[in-house]
Amino acid sequence: MSNTQFTLTNRTALITGASSGIGATLAKGLSTAGATVVLAARRAERIEQLVDEIESEGGKAVAVNMDVTQRESVKSAFDLAERFVGKIDTVVNNAGVAAPKNFARINDEERDFVMNTNFNGVWNVAQEAAQRMIQAGKSGSIVNIASVLGLTAKPGQTSYCASKGAVIQLTRAMALDLIKYNIRVNAIAPGWFKTEMNEDFFNSAAGQKHIEQMPARRLGDIQELVGPVIMLCSDAGSFVNGAVLPVDGAISVAGI
Ligand SMILES: NC(=O)c1ccc[n+]([C@@H]2O[C@H](COP(=O)([O-])OP(=O)(O)OC[C@H]3O[C@@H](n4cnc5c(N)ncnc54)[C@H](OP(=O)(O)O)[C@@H]3O)[C@@H](O)[C@H]2O)c1
Repeated sequence: MSNTQFTLTNRTALITGASSGIGATLAKGLSTAGATVVLAARRAERIEQLVDEIESEGGKAVAVNMDVTQRESVKSAFDLAERFVGKIDTVVNNAGVAAPKNFARINDEERDFVMNTNFNGVWNVAQEAAQRMIQAGKSGSIVNIASVLGLTAKPGQTSYCASKGAVIQLTRAMALDLIKYNIRVNAIAPGWFKTEMNEDFFNSAAGQKHIEQMPARRLGDIQELVGPVIMLCSDAGSFVNGAVLPVDGAISVAGI
């Protein structure tokens, strides 16, 4: 296999939740691999700053405001992105939230907050992207950021586990529906990476104890997600479809 199979030159990739954590690092990584990147999130200032950073390193990037839970917001973000950089052929559905609480105490609003972002958000963005790719006759790749908690479970995480399990099944079913349009759909199931979502926990004694129980005895470095996502987005992954790839230092096989 030649290394050119891993290039994203001539690809235009939209990354949701690009304003922080995993999404910001993935956006920079896809840009380094040659993609024009569209950074989508609600915190405009953060994605605009990241555009400056990427462009100062020679990349091409634009920022679009998007709330993944709102169809109209998703549509207008795609319209705006297309005006600046043309049709999008690569999507990384990364936006996500967590709201840990015991199942016995979760109210409907708290459940809907997690499901609307983690599940409906992926659905909204993937469907908008797929419809536009099909209309433009463009092949494409969609990568959904699920979680090891879509494969295993942890106390206090019912809404999150359910949302990520749903994303995994959505990924598999979408792959079958979209294969005839040459659109591949895969998921990454990350293990644990310190970000704004969980830094309080991993800075605590309980978090440190959890790390010691992990097979690798460390958290992942967000950079370690970049290679697997590039593989799935690029020609290197041309026959990988409907797959769920754990990037977790063996947490899912250990069942932790
Ligand atoms: N960190 C981990 O250990 C880990 C493990 C497994 C899976 N994941 C998954 O990785 C993804 C990224 O999480 P992270 O750890 O990088 O957390 P993070 O730093 O909190 O990032 C979450 C991102 O989601 C965006 N977002 C949230 N709600 C949104 C909405 N309604 N519309 C648009 N964007 C929205 C946020 O952007 P704005 O607030 O600016 O909109 C933010 O950029 C999530 O799907 C998460 O479930 C993380």
